[in-house]
Amino acid sequence: HWIDRTVSIGYWLGEGYQGKGIMTRACKAVIHYLFEDCGLHRIEIRAAVDNLKSRRIAERLSFSLEGILRQCEWLGDRFTDHCVYALLQPEYMKEKTHSMNQPT
Ligand SMILES: CC(C)(COP(=O)(O)OP(=O)(O)OC[C@H]1O[C@@H](n2cnc3c(N)ncnc32)[C@H](O)[C@@H]1OP(=O)(O)O)[C@@H](O)C(=O)NCCC(=O)NCCS
Repeated sequence: HWIDRTVSIGYWLGEGYQGKGIMTRACKAVIHYLFEDCGLHRIEIRAAVDNLKSRRIAERLSFSLEGILRQCEWLGDRFTDHCVYALLQPEYMKEKTHSMNQPT
């Protein structure tokens, strides 16, 4: 959404490629592109509450959990709730500056 400078990202990886840290690295690259090249202000990630692998990616990347959307997706046999995570551009810049100042 260009007017609000917000975007939502989602991810899906082939089974043979999961559990190697690929999606976290891919998301880092996408986040860098969206904030630093596209000039966006807010990135949102939504994950089903019981999809812990997906939620861990958002949490590892310092996204904040903003709330739960109740029964917002039909899975064929039941509704599931979604966690809404977001990262703001100033938070990203602060984290980046902080990590650059850490001793290696
Ligand atoms: C959710 C999904 C995208 C995660 O992809 P992924 O590449 O495995 O995720 P990550 O980048 O977080 O990988 C981290 C895992 O790799 C492991 N790993 C192995 N080597 C690693 C390395 N060199 N660096 C970092 N992590 C590494 C980590 O220990 C971690 O394991 P854990 O999940 O058991 O804690 C993938 O499981 C998927 O496509 N699932 C089906 C679709 C889906 O649910 N999509 C989300 C809808 S909201």
